[in-house]
Amino acid sequence: MSTVPAAKSLRALRAGPLNGTIRPPGDKSISHRALMLGALAIGETTIEGLLEGEDVLASAAAMRAFGAQVTQNQPGSWTVKGLGIGGLLEPETVIDYGNAGTGVRLAMGIAGSHAFATTFTGDASLVSRPMDRVLEPLRRMGIQALARSQERLPLTIRGPDVPIPIEFKLNVPSAQVKSALLFAGLNTAGTTTIIEPIATRDHTELMLAAFGATIEVKSGEDGGRTIVLEGQADLKAQSITVPGDPSSAAFAIVAALIVEGSDVLVENVLLNPTRAGLIATLEEMGGDISIDNRRKVGGEEVGDIHVKASSLRGVTVPAERAPSMIDEYPILAIAAAFAEGDTLMEGIGELRVKESDRISAMLAGLGANGVSAEEDTDSLLVHGANTVAGGGTVETMLDHRIAMSFLVLGLAAENPVTVDNVGPIATSFPEFRGQMERLGGKFEEVGPG
Ligand code: S3P
Repeated sequence: MSTVPAAKSLRALRAGPLNGTIRPPGDKSISHRALMLGALAIGETTIEGLLEGEDVLASAAAMRAFGAQVTQNQPGSWTVKGLGIGGLLEPETVIDYGNAGTGVRLAMGIAGSHAFATTFTGDASLVSRPMDRVLEPLRRMGIQALARSQERLPLTIRGPDVPIPIEFKLNVPSAQVKSALLFAGLNTAGTTTIIEPIATRDHTELMLAAFGATIEVKSGEDGGRTIVLEGQADLKAQSITVPGDPSSAAFAIVAALIVEGSDVLVENVLLNPTRAGLIATLEEMGGDISIDNRRKVGGEEVGDIHVKASSLRGVTVPAERAPSMIDEYPILAIAAAFAEGDTLMEGIGELRVKESDRISAMLAGLGANGVSAEEDTDSLLVHGANTVAGGGTVETMLDHRIAMSFLVLGLAAENPVTVDNVGPIATSFPEFRGQMERLGGKFEEVGPG
């Protein structure tokens, strides 16, 4: 099991205008997939701009455990020597994925199509998260899985000699489930078909096509997609450049909107439409946001996002938009706290099974800082106000995005905001504090007691 590092608190103080330019770290979703497809391809894949956060480093370690050679050449620049589809080796020991839900679920798909046993575990957050969403369809492929009660980690997966290709309609809009099944389908003779009623992030599909898999994506008129993958392809090693993570860029974008007088440029941000819901929402709220220098990086659209402090107004965010901004609701709730009027976020029940129950964590953190909000099973309503009192202490609940969101709140609130444990920020955005300080953000460490 993961060892639990001592909690480290941090306090964010009201800041003057934020100014300057930052580049967010590499996209987390793309970084996991680049390492995994590198391990499944034949030859040497090179990756530039890899996110070196703990979640992705756990994927690097997992791919090594499966026999791939994964090497860091320089910061951000990595090489993966893959073993080819079906060529992975049985790990000698338990794979500990730490806090990384994406990593472990995708790796379960990879492990499941190999005829050996793999045991996975994680930290206190990950072992409480549901894995049935992946295990249930994997079992239909003939994969054996033995998990703790309620299908939670630690769990062991054993792939069959001959996996069965399936057609599966996602019952939760989850790119993790879709990707796990596509990875399992890679080493399965025949056609794997995944139907998603609402489109989710499509990095796996784009990257599989780039590595030479035979994959077809059909878009329905209702916004859904059907993905058809031919199994037992030969993947060819690639050169991948990872664009900046929009989910990390989101913290600087919202900070610039709510800290008076700010003017910030966030460079090299992934603009894939399946990830762009937050920008659309902030624009509807009246945010002064412009996108310059649109270009393609590694087959994905990227741009530089220019943000100026703005007077925001509350909006209703429709349920259909949730998959395109699923990780951005915590920071949206911070923008909503400073908006005039109410912001209603609908259809966000999935937030209850993220790194923490994010609806409850947001409600508690907002309440502790004088912001009134209400929850329902799958929605959150934030009553905005021009000024936010702050002064509260927020429980991170092992959730990096809760920690970063409330530190951003503290930069614009009347009184300092304390976050009880900033350790989890290292899972996705180790440079968060340094980058925010370079823009003019102010933080102070809080001693024990
Ligand atoms: C991810 C998909 C999302 C997201 C997660 C990353 C991915 O999870 O919350 O941070 O890389 O596929 P779900 O697919 O479970 O919604």
